[in-house]
Amino acid sequence: MMLRFSKFVTRAKNIVFSIVFLMPLWSNAQDNWVAPESTNQLVSPVTDTDQGIAEGSKLYQSLCVACHGIYGKGDGVAAAGLDPKPANFYSEAFRKQSDGAVFWKLSKGRGVMAGYENMLNEKDRWALVAYLKSLHKTDKKDSPKKIDNNSVKGTFLFTQLINTQTVQVLPQKSAEFTIQHRFGPTTLNKRFINQFMGMDLSSNIRIAFAMALNENMYMELGRTKFGKVYDVGIKYLWLRQTLDTKTPFSLAVYSNLGVMTAKFPSLVEGSTFEDGSNFDYIFSHRLTYNFQLIMARKFSDIFSFQLSPVFIWRNLVPVDENNLVVAIPISGRFKLSTKTALLFEVAPVFNTANERLPLSLSYEIASSSAHAFQIVLSSTDQILESAVYTQPTYDYTKGQFVLGFNIKRLF
Ligand code: HEC
Repeated sequence: MMLRFSKFVTRAKNIVFSIVFLMPLWSNAQDNWVAPESTNQLVSPVTDTDQGIAEGSKLYQSLCVACHGIYGKGDGVAAAGLDPKPANFYSEAFRKQSDGAVFWKLSKGRGVMAGYENMLNEKDRWALVAYLKSLHKTDKKDSPKKIDNNSVKGTFLFTQLINTQTVQVLPQKSAEFTIQHRFGPTTLNKRFINQFMGMDLSSNIRIAFAMALNENMYMELGRTKFGKVYDVGIKYLWLRQTLDTKTPFSLAVYSNLGVMTAKFPSLVEGSTFEDGSNFDYIFSHRLTYNFQLIMARKFSDIFSFQLSPVFIWRNLVPVDENNLVVAIPISGRFKLSTKTALLFEVAPVFNTANERLPLSLSYEIASSSAHAFQIVLSSTDQILESAVYTQPTYDYTKGQFVLGFNIKRLF
């Protein structure tokens, strides 16, 4: 089958040669563009149509939108000055054509419409055909598919960047598993080797499991070693950045409740509440809440940027600290290659005894968009945001830092 297929492509090539020679003759005459009859026999190797459409949609959004428009109506921003106009994929004339003819046209191109045979492999071009041919079927006003085609995807890969939350929610019916591990604090001297990068010291670890509730919302359960904290979080994606820039950024809200289950520190004799009454521990002293607004913009395929102000309320704090702490994590992701990225987080903190900016850097190796390993370099061995911004940050001006890693898996 494949053999027969490539034979046809070769034959199509010869036809194009003659067209190229004749081009000057008809370049001004805007006659119909007709694919050679033989192309009608071409058979698409795409067996899983949904998969093909999904892949085609991605390619379409990055390569074809400018001319053919977000919805494929031939009304892209670059279409205005063009004659002939980019094709409208809903038109009768387009729909009548065989898949093979469409494949041939987008492989060969004509005029300003480039031939994609040197840029995209066969499979990708057939995926595009599947997508173009699926468009008219979803031509209902504001059908979910259309909204979906317009929304920017993959601002970040996962629901958390290094420590901070991202705007990302989980695809419907999916789940995410996370392991975050931080070694003890170290410096680049003899100790670094002696204590094996801080691994011999007391280290922190959090495991978390998140589950989609619907396409805009998910819930998460986590457990952190420091403080034996159980945490439950919920995120709702409010706005999705759109390709047509009508919505220039994505916006999500996130809230988390942490329950410390470790033993309370022993009481100093004669401790009192602020009002002077006798102090005693009660259950609510174990609770820490946070509420977060997350705004992110994917500026390009390479760079995404995010602001995620967080309000943290701790029910029990030492006398010289405040119950309410506010932090404004500034974070982002630079894609270095298809599989690797550099992540950063800097978090100005307000209303806290913490003197230093928490900083974290990470090198992400993603074997797919569903699985990643991140090597972390951080100023703190805390993991939950309510601890990262309220607990002391190691003194990086004296060379102290923490190494660690995150493992993420989407199901
Ligand atoms: C620079 C603008 C531009 C871009 C980018 C572009 N096209 Fe086109 N396309 C056109 C124009 C103009 C035509 C009409 C050409 C003609 O009739 O001579 C066209 C025609 C087509 C046709 C033929 C439709 C028909 O019924 O004859 C197909 C299929 C097509 N484009 C697919 C694509 C795909 C897929 C992409 C992205 C991978 C793409 N185009 C990117 C401008 C563009």
